[in-house]
Amino acid sequence: MTAHTHTHTPGTPAARPPLAAFGALIEAESPEQRLDGPPVEEMRELVRAHHLLLLRGFPAFADAEELTAYCARWGEISMWPFGAVLELVEHENPEDHIFDHRHVPLHWDGMYRPQVPEFQLFHCVSAPGHDQGGGTVFSQTSAVLRDAEPAVRAQWEQVTGTYRRKMEYYDSTAVSPVVTAHPVTGEPVIRYNEPVAPDDEFINHPNLEFTGIPADRLDEFHRTLGRALRAPEHAYTHRWRTGDLVIADNYTLLHGREAFTSRAPRHLRRVHVLGDPPLENPALRSS
Ligand SMILES: [Fe+2]
Repeated sequence: MTAHTHTHTPGTPAARPPLAAFGALIEAESPEQRLDGPPVEEMRELVRAHHLLLLRGFPAFADAEELTAYCARWGEISMWPFGAVLELVEHENPEDHIFDHRHVPLHWDGMYRPQVPEFQLFHCVSAPGHDQGGGTVFSQTSAVLRDAEPAVRAQWEQVTGTYRRKMEYYDSTAVSPVVTAHPVTGEPVIRYNEPVAPDDEFINHPNLEFTGIPADRLDEFHRTLGRALRAPEHAYTHRWRTGDLVIADNYTLLHGREAFTSRAPRHLRRVHVLGDPPLENPALRSS
């Protein structure tokens, strides 16, 4: 299903988000147009086909409860100890990098949780200023694999990542081949948590170990993979505007965050929606 088959839905769904190599965009035709217009079944197919959907210009959700009620229409919400909604906002003294203003490396959500969500829904309550950074970076990994040189891809296929992460909500180990299959379509996708340079100031870094190739080839592995994941034809950095709703295909994409100016007014709310049936996390070893 392609975006331009959706001309009967409100907005202009044929477009892509600005400067994006992938993704679909539905813009409100007027500031009064409600988000309950476009049928969720069709938007779900848009996200599966284009991997990312930006809904822009629709009236904001009044609060986290209203966002939760909307997300429940997308499928079963993955509940966290804090509830459905993660408030992504800089903390005064963060104990973890997700509440810091520095960058977050590419990863997939739910990698340390019993179930992996199919969809991430991000609502931008307040965007940082235009020159304050804080974009969310998405990488389309099936395209990365499709375009990779065979010899380079063959090396990636030999590598397995082992990730250990302890934070407020879990203390888990995840093990996954870097190249694996999309759980529904079987299409090759990448599951990878980018390492951070040792001299990088980074709060509560996970322990990462990569095996399957000789240790002296690992630098080359990270370099070629990192470059391909962030190549302009595979990556999209979403520059938030207040009111944006972005729905991302967490089975195919990896995502991370650009650093932003500390105390910039960046506030996102994130909700995880499970697939149907929910995906039991194939990478989880202990938690
Ligand atoms: Fe994430």
